[in-house]
Amino acid sequence: MVRITLFSAIMATFAIVAVTATAAEADAAKPPIQTLSKGVSEDLDDEGKPMQYINSVFGDEDDDDYTPEQLEQRSVMRRTKHHHKHSRKHKSKTSSRKLFTVGPASSDSLWSNNVQITWYASHDLQNPQCGNGGGSWQPENSSHIGAVVKGWTDGPQCGEFVKLCNKDANNHCVQVRVIDKCAGCGENHVDLTKSAFKKLSPSGSLTEGRIHGLQMYRSGQKPNPWDIALFGPKLLQG
Ligand SMILES: *[C@@H]1O[C@H](CO)[C@@H](O)[C@H](O)[C@H]1NC(C)=O
Repeated sequence: MVRITLFSAIMATFAIVAVTATAAEADAAKPPIQTLSKGVSEDLDDEGKPMQYINSVFGDEDDDDYTPEQLEQRSVMRRTKHHHKHSRKHKSKTSSRKLFTVGPASSDSLWSNNVQITWYASHDLQNPQCGNGGGSWQPENSSHIGAVVKGWTDGPQCGEFVKLCNKDANNHCVQVRVIDKCAGCGENHVDLTKSAFKKLSPSGSLTEGRIHGLQMYRSGQKPNPWDIALFGPKLLQG
């Protein structure tokens, strides 16, 4: 009995070793996992994670141009859009998005500390001079975009993101993308959509009209997920 048991144990050990060896051989025979060769430009964010694009259609959920019916429709769209498309992590972020931060991020670097802002709307927003993806998109009051004077050498260039902050508005900061030229502006002036302006005004409304003394930062990170309704298509020309 003892012998048989010992024999069985030895055979079992051999069997395990054999299976393990076979698996190892199979692994070795498999082609290596396909990886993208270096130099192939992937669409990655500033942390090296794949860019995600969404189109919320309505842009800034806090924009008050919408009727209650439109807001309800928007939240229905938001629900159906995000629930299957994004992981839990992103879902909670997008479904209760606050499109401002309090204070700049540590990755933002100060660009200018005395910028003035104004706002423009409706048809003035259409057909921005930096392009709108070959006509595939038009900015709206609820987008987060801005216009600056042509030839502001040290200023933001077409397609760049800036972060504007106002200490007098609870230190709210808004990330906007510069996609247009402003004929009536000088340097250190950003003409904004209504939705972006309202985030930065002490009253939370448009009544100030013009506000001075804001801080402008180079955005350390592009938004990801990137909402096309807010910022337009990544490629503005074409
Ligand atoms: C955009 O803002 C302008 C100016 O306040 C307003 O007249 C217009 O109705 C708004 N557009 C939309 C689509 O709400």
